Amino acid sequence: MKCVDDFRLRLGGRELVPIVIGGMGVDISTAELALEAARLGGIGHISDAMVPTVSDRRFKTRFVKDKLKQYKYNVTNADKSDVRFDLGHLAEATRLHVGRTMEAKRGDGMVFINCMEKLTMNAPKETLRVRLTSALDAGADGITLAAGLHLGSFALIEDHPRFRDAQLGIIVSSLRALQLFLKKNARIGRLPDYVVIEGPLAGGHLGFGMDWAKYDLHAIVAEIRDWLKVEQLDIPLIPAGGIFTGGDAVDFLDGGGAAVQVATRFTVAKECGLPDDVQQEYFKASEVDIEVNGISPTGYPMRMLKNSPAIGAGTHPNCESFGYLLDANGRCAYVDSYNREVALHPDAKKVSVRDKTCLCTHMRNFELWTCGHYTYRLKDTTRRLADGSYQLLSAEHVFNDYRFSKGSAIALPAEVA
Ligand SMILES: Cc1cc2nc3c(=O)[nH]c(=O)nc-3n(C[C@H](O)[C@H](O)[C@H](O)COP(=O)(O)O)c2cc1C
Repeated sequence: MKCVDDFRLRLGGRELVPIVIGGMGVDISTAELALEAARLGGIGHISDAMVPTVSDRRFKTRFVKDKLKQYKYNVTNADKSDVRFDLGHLAEATRLHVGRTMEAKRGDGMVFINCMEKLTMNAPKETLRVRLTSALDAGADGITLAAGLHLGSFALIEDHPRFRDAQLGIIVSSLRALQLFLKKNARIGRLPDYVVIEGPLAGGHLGFGMDWAKYDLHAIVAEIRDWLKVEQLDIPLIPAGGIFTGGDAVDFLDGGGAAVQVATRFTVAKECGLPDDVQQEYFKASEVDIEVNGISPTGYPMRMLKNSPAIGAGTHPNCESFGYLLDANGRCAYVDSYNREVALHPDAKKVSVRDKTCLCTHMRNFELWTCGHYTYRLKDTTRRLADGSYQLLSAEHVFNDYRFSKGSAIALPAEVA
């Protein structure tokens, strides 16, 4: 029986262990987690979601305070179109987050950054250009274009000196999305270096509608693999979503995958950014505690634990501090929902908003517990401690379990004294 270690991913002239830890914003896939993947010979992701906030936490900068100070006058205003990002600050925050991570990198693997197009930041093109350019400036080994079709993203950086040697990949959930991307970028004469194919069982936002359950990752991978063959395009494919064991990974590597991207198993690693008490919620979850709902203002369905404090919270919008989901016209679906509830209940001290959530605030505070479908199996990957809690794992343990375990076996961690 084969294990993942029998395979190698060839990328950028290097041979890597074919395990990619997916990007998990906001700073759930921390630099520490990504660096472990790289040290062990695979690929780790940091994320640039809310990067000024991440920089403030990591490096004691004051980007969020400064932005709030500038727009304080607008906090009670329902119209958020005035609230803009300072592009200089955005560049500095990205350079700090990426640059310091790359300086700390050891080992033969790589560190990529996950950039979501849906973070439209009240100026989609300008802010995305700054985010991508600054990540390349700061030496990221690669960029994974996520949460969006990214039809114009390559064009934003085509003049960058690293455009042709940094690893650039895209996440798709269908052949059609990949075809659109390739068609739009044909003029540029540069293919993506890898394509992550994310299926319906993944964590975070899904590239499917609420009918996600009728899709199957194996089928999508086979369809894309066969089409690329016909087109004589050789692009490494990286399936993602619900790959829970080394054996699951081998199935995909045997079926045309060049590597696998995984995330949920690492949410309970010590190096992960989730607070300890939240990690225990992930361990405790049963299958019925996990749902896919429509509360993300991005419009994409999102999978999460049903007891996430973000659900129904009715938080006052914090666009003056954050505002990452404001579209090109300064609108966010949560702000609209919040204003609707306030208008319906003018005397209420606090409203409840059921249909949307203030994603920025709750992701920042680790109050929206997004997770993969198989989160309910995390309890089977560790030991229960005397106090009833679950033992956290090291990223190295989880990585090596994927790398060396065979079939449906899952290696348990050593018992703590
Ligand atoms: C907690 C969490 C947060 C995530 N955040 C993001 C994100 O910010 N951007 C993104 O492209 N994917 C995100 N994902 C998806 C993962 O990168 C990955 O592709 C997917 O979850 C893999 O499936 P698995 O979790 O079943 O292993 C997230 C996943 C989890 C579990």
